[in-house]
Amino acid sequence: MEKAKPLRILAVESSCDESAAAVLDEKGGLLAHEIFSQVELHRIFGGVVPELASRDHVRRLLPLVRTVLEESKTGPGELDGIAYTAGPGLVGALLTGAALARSLAYAWDVPALGVHHLEGHLLAVLLEPDPPAFPHVALLVSGGHTQLIEALAIGRYHMLGQTRDDAAGEAFDKIAKLLGLAYPGGPELARLADEGRAGAFEFPRPMLDRPGLEFSFSGLKTAVLHAVRGRAPSDELRRDVARAVQEAIVDTLVVKALRALDATGLDTLVVCGGVGANRLLRERLAREVRSHGGRVHYPRQELCTDNAAMIAVAGLARLKAGEHDDLGIRARAQWPLESLRPIDS
Ligand code: KG4
Ligand code: ZN
Repeated sequence: MEKAKPLRILAVESSCDESAAAVLDEKGGLLAHEIFSQVELHRIFGGVVPELASRDHVRRLLPLVRTVLEESKTGPGELDGIAYTAGPGLVGALLTGAALARSLAYAWDVPALGVHHLEGHLLAVLLEPDPPAFPHVALLVSGGHTQLIEALAIGRYHMLGQTRDDAAGEAFDKIAKLLGLAYPGGPELARLADEGRAGAFEFPRPMLDRPGLEFSFSGLKTAVLHAVRGRAPSDELRRDVARAVQEAIVDTLVVKALRALDATGLDTLVVCGGVGANRLLRERLAREVRSHGGRVHYPRQELCTDNAAMIAVAGLARLKAGEHDDLGIRARAQWPLESLRPIDS
């Protein structure tokens, strides 16, 4: 019997301020992926301006699609589907990618698949060599989310705990702004932290003293505000505060992630989302989970932050399972991860 041809999928991502496209082949792996960051566009506003984000996606997405098709030497006839981020995210921004993907899929007569952005983050790690098996615990830490999830299979996610207020990335960004760092402050705060002195400041580790797997980061911002009040701003102060802030956030994430492994009896942890790019977090988790007898998996750094390769992975898994959408264009600001259809292989 002739073997089925490996599936090949094009994916686009436009949920926030990164425009991205990728081509993934079931056999050949990730053939091309490109990201255009809108950071410069939003910098003077100190945050993402949704209308500007949408307009820029309209400008960027099609050239990105053309580039990844060329780089992967893929003609439209070789595609088996087109995946796009259908939510959660900024609705206007999502609609630009959704409309483009749905239209191309219609024109090229292939299925379109609306993918859950967070499922993309959770599955990005499957692109790495020696990927983790299911079930495992995932720590999803981004600008919008801080969640511990028991990932039982693709599409079968059980929420173990999440933040009650700010996400970890949001805390990084807000405190960075408070310290006068340029947007987006998270990575810049992390860079400064490496130069800060140990013990110059000590900030609370919220919720650590309580049982459970919930997080709360908004109090940290207030603690920083109190600590710097009345002090002359200086580079040294910024570095020392940055170090203590990073330690408080990383400590909290590490303790709760270990607690989640204990609670589920699992030994594999996957770390994903933008804050997963944080070097201290990666080092601490690798060390402490190993000494716990477990193992940590990360997507490579460029696949921690928003990208289309992760959307392609989720889309391909769903295409293989026979899923595809109708001719509607899907864009959802909110979309519970636990409402997804499981793919049990
Ligand atoms: O996943 P992501 O690209 O976008 C979503 O929120 O979906 O995550 C972006 C977040 C931002 O809050 C950014 O400050 C944070 O990830 N981030 C970092 C680092 N790199 C990105 N936070 C701490 N350390 C980093 N190295
Ligand atoms: Zn994201």
